Amino acid sequence: MTLKSLITIYQKRVDIALDRCLPASTLEPQRLHEAMRYAVLNGGKRVRPLLVYLTGQLFSVDPVSLDIPASAVELIHAFSLVHDDLPAMDDDDLRRGKPTNHKAFDEATAILAGDALQTLAFYILTQAPAHRLEMIEALALATGSRGMAGGQAIDMVSVGQTLNISELENMHNHKTGMLIRACVKLGALASSSLEQSVLKTLDHYAKCIGLAFQIQDDILDVESDTETLGKLQGSDIAHNKVTYPALLGLDGAKNMANELIEEAITSLNEFDDKADPLRWMANYIITRQF
Ligand code: IPE
Ligand code: IPE
Ligand code: MG
Ligand code: MG
Ligand code: MG
Repeated sequence: MTLKSLITIYQKRVDIALDRCLPASTLEPQRLHEAMRYAVLNGGKRVRPLLVYLTGQLFSVDPVSLDIPASAVELIHAFSLVHDDLPAMDDDDLRRGKPTNHKAFDEATAILAGDALQTLAFYILTQAPAHRLEMIEALALATGSRGMAGGQAIDMVSVGQTLNISELENMHNHKTGMLIRACVKLGALASSSLEQSVLKTLDHYAKCIGLAFQIQDDILDVESDTETLGKLQGSDIAHNKVTYPALLGLDGAKNMANELIEEAITSLNEFDDKADPLRWMANYIITRQF
């Protein structure tokens, strides 16, 4: 099987799992459930669930045991996007090629849909087949004020400010990197025989690709176009956001992302070709066009 077809299989797999765990839109309160489904079932790349499946696969974990953690990380991600797009935050109107949640519904519904997606993520993790407490702990830490929400808080107060490179790195590591690290951790936790040193190695891989992921997102905001991105190109510049291209220039940002991906791939040297999908993901993160 080619890596590309493996990725497609996992993308379809998590879409089915997500559809199953989301409340039906016919269930009361219908508008809220519609908004939750709209936020999730709309063609995201599913990078975070893929990282859960591919890390689990490294330890020969049955994909059936990975459906819940893979869905949980995507629910958190979808919630973060709904809130990120709100007028009080990035005030964006387009997401995944469609009107953002607060545009398709309304602000109150979008806020509640985000809230409910977040709690649904933790609810489903209580049913994970193994290591559920550790998984809940890892995802909670990655999502909260010391993780993604904290990074988003730094993002908001940094608008119009000049950050230095380490401050910007800290912001990106929190708003995007922590959740990506949690994906790899959840995939690894699903394995029954995990050594701490292996977990540490994988965490270093995840930290590198997590930062590179947000740098590439910043680059695409400058270089791509709205149609390809499915979100408004130039939104960062329009909103005076602190980004890697703004601080280092496009070439500087690209060099930084390339170095991080090289470091991520090098950190997988102790693994055989079973880690090839994770190597592929690392490359994909900086070669992706949207
Ligand atoms: C966008 O994430 C938000 C960031 C954290 C940079 P993705 O690029 O993974 O968005 P989707 O899920 O594919 O839409
Ligand atoms: C979002 O970063 C990070 C989140 C935690 C949602 P961005 O604000 O750059 O993401 P996009 O570009 O809107 O997808
Ligand atoms: Mg943002
Ligand atoms: Mg945004
Ligand atoms: Mg962005």
